Amino acid sequence: MNKILVTGGCGYIGAHTIVDLIENGFNPISIDDNSRSTTALLTGIKEITGVAVKNYKVDLTNFDDTYAVFQENTDIKGIIHFAAYKAVGESVNKPLMYFENNLISLINVLKCAKEFEVPHFIFSSSCTVYGSPDKIPVTEESPIKPAESPYGATKQMGEEIVRDVTKTGGLQSILLRYFNPVGAHPSALIGELPLGKPENLVPAITQTAVGKIKELIVYGDDYDTRDGSCIRDYVHVCDIANAHTLALQHLIENKNVQPCEIYNLGTGNGVSVLEAIHAFEKVSNLKLNYKIGPRRPGDIVAIYANNSLAKEKLHWDPQYSLDQMMGTAWKWQLKLQADAELHNNANFQMN
Ligand code: WQD
Repeated sequence: MNKILVTGGCGYIGAHTIVDLIENGFNPISIDDNSRSTTALLTGIKEITGVAVKNYKVDLTNFDDTYAVFQENTDIKGIIHFAAYKAVGESVNKPLMYFENNLISLINVLKCAKEFEVPHFIFSSSCTVYGSPDKIPVTEESPIKPAESPYGATKQMGEEIVRDVTKTGGLQSILLRYFNPVGAHPSALIGELPLGKPENLVPAITQTAVGKIKELIVYGDDYDTRDGSCIRDYVHVCDIANAHTLALQHLIENKNVQPCEIYNLGTGNGVSVLEAIHAFEKVSNLKLNYKIGPRRPGDIVAIYANNSLAKEKLHWDPQYSLDQMMGTAWKWQLKLQADAELHNNANFQMN
């Protein structure tokens, strides 16, 4: 079985990808320092797949520790590199922390990949590299715009680093540009665990619905769109996860034409903030407590993907509808809520 190193395997997209890899016959191992995660999702992975995935609690900015993992696993056939900080707002206030963490860890992983002759590398990129696009939908050929945040800059630089290292030979790579990953595994055994108050729309919606957030603010309804709110391409995390398996198989089967290929991962459907809220209200049968607020600085009016390339070359076929994205996100939120209540009751009984 092909051993695949997943960095950030305890995180949201990493954990869903590990499940998809296992279901497709791969043998994933994880490196995650749990600085922004816990091992909770590994437990969920075990419940779903029956496989106990090994996690190395290693900080990838520490080269020696990272190297030691490769020394222990000289049979790694591919790397999927998720590990990174991802809070856009935080990156504006702590740019050095973002550049240091996201870039040094990537460099260290690539140095090890070269030294241990790992042939395949997949990099977790983002539609944020397109900035505010002149034309939508965006294709992989659309221009890269100046980054809107240090986080976005780390994704742009990360792409450049992977591209340049690939040019030196030995390594074949794929850059996957995610649009807005949302939802959770249909079992509700794994999902997103936002730290603190969520910045992203879907966890903000589900947390409002359970009362963790008092009121959801819609950031602006005076944009030049069909209902005035911003348009995004929400894509289910299990569909994103499966694209990683397909990308890896594409490289393993030598189907790549370029040593470094790029694919957009979005459904191709633009959905407004208000449409997303209404889809949630429909599937949950709840009325969401929301109000229109001011625009959020840095928000792009509208972006969605042209995903023809991923469909044609990787045979990617995203399965989940917007209603299913909202439905699985909601089921996961209810599960978290139930777990929290159980925990509180247990504590109450102990005291
Ligand atoms: C979506 C829409 C908000 C919260 C981020 C990253 C980007 C990329 C995808 C990975 C926007 C609106 C949100 C709220 C709201 N990820 N909103 N009220 O900004 O498209 O992109 O994730 O790299 O790099 O920046 O996602 O979920 O924050 O916002 O009205 O409480 O929902 O204004 O229009 P975004 P988001």
